Amino acid sequence: MDSFQALMARKEGDDITTSVETLTAADLPPGDVTIRVLYSSVNFKDALALTPGGGVVRDYPVVPGIDLTGEVVESQSPEFTPGDAVLAHGYQIGTGHHGGYAEYARLPADQVVNLGALSPYDGAAIGTAGFTAAMSVQALIDWGVATDAGPVVVTGASGGVGSVSVDLLAGAGYRVVASTGKADAADRLKSLGAAEVIGRLPDDPDAKPRPLAKARWAAGVDCVGGGF
Ligand SMILES: NC(=O)c1ccc[n+]([C@@H]2O[C@H](COP(=O)([O-])OP(=O)(O)OC[C@H]3O[C@@H](n4cnc5c(N)ncnc54)[C@H](OP(=O)(O)O)[C@@H]3O)[C@@H](O)[C@H]2O)c1
Repeated sequence: MDSFQALMARKEGDDITTSVETLTAADLPPGDVTIRVLYSSVNFKDALALTPGGGVVRDYPVVPGIDLTGEVVESQSPEFTPGDAVLAHGYQIGTGHHGGYAEYARLPADQVVNLGALSPYDGAAIGTAGFTAAMSVQALIDWGVATDAGPVVVTGASGGVGSVSVDLLAGAGYRVVASTGKADAADRLKSLGAAEVIGRLPDDPDAKPRPLAKARWAAGVDCVGGGF
């Protein structure tokens, strides 16, 4: 890795420009784990990083790419050894310091996850949206919501986080009600395991809260927000 290629975003006046540049190891930020990047997805935050006024990048130039999977090539941390398949996302990756749109990345060990038996390809396919869905479902399980407690609603069900949530919840044995604004998404959501597909939930800011009304769902993964 004497030199390697990276997509660099630079701020020029009011514009953000991108170009492939040649970097060296010295250009990578400090960190315990150096990773040969194999995959990095295109996330909404990456689009913001390249949009003037997007608000997610404090200082340019930066290598975007808010997530990455790959193989450890160097590690100062005892938790990782060269050859480990790893994933990293979140924190300031690709916004506060260089991210995944490069052949190499260097990160603090506590921002790196060992993929174990998962390949970098599979880790990337699950992606940040899938990881977020899994955390949501795990939180619900940790909260003690039993599978027979009642239906679990997922809003924004056809989206990235929503569709994986439907899949995971159904797989875990919950009765899933998928809320979507897309009429043509019903078949896909049912094939993922939704027991019922409903329209978007009413979000009337003037609607009176009814704290004593009967609960409709045992829990929810709310990808949209709002006042329901
Ligand atoms: N993707 C990630 O990596 C990630 C990570 C952490 C947190 N998040 C957060 O998780 C949430 C969902 O992200 P996502 O990646 O799943 O987004 P997404 O793929 O764009 O899905 C969002 C879904 O929300 C629904 N929706 C869109 N506009 C709406 C509106 N005006 N009213 C009601 N529903 C609307 C749509 O689903 P329907 O048409 O099916 O209703 C849409 O597919 C966001 O708040 C995001 O910031 C995402």
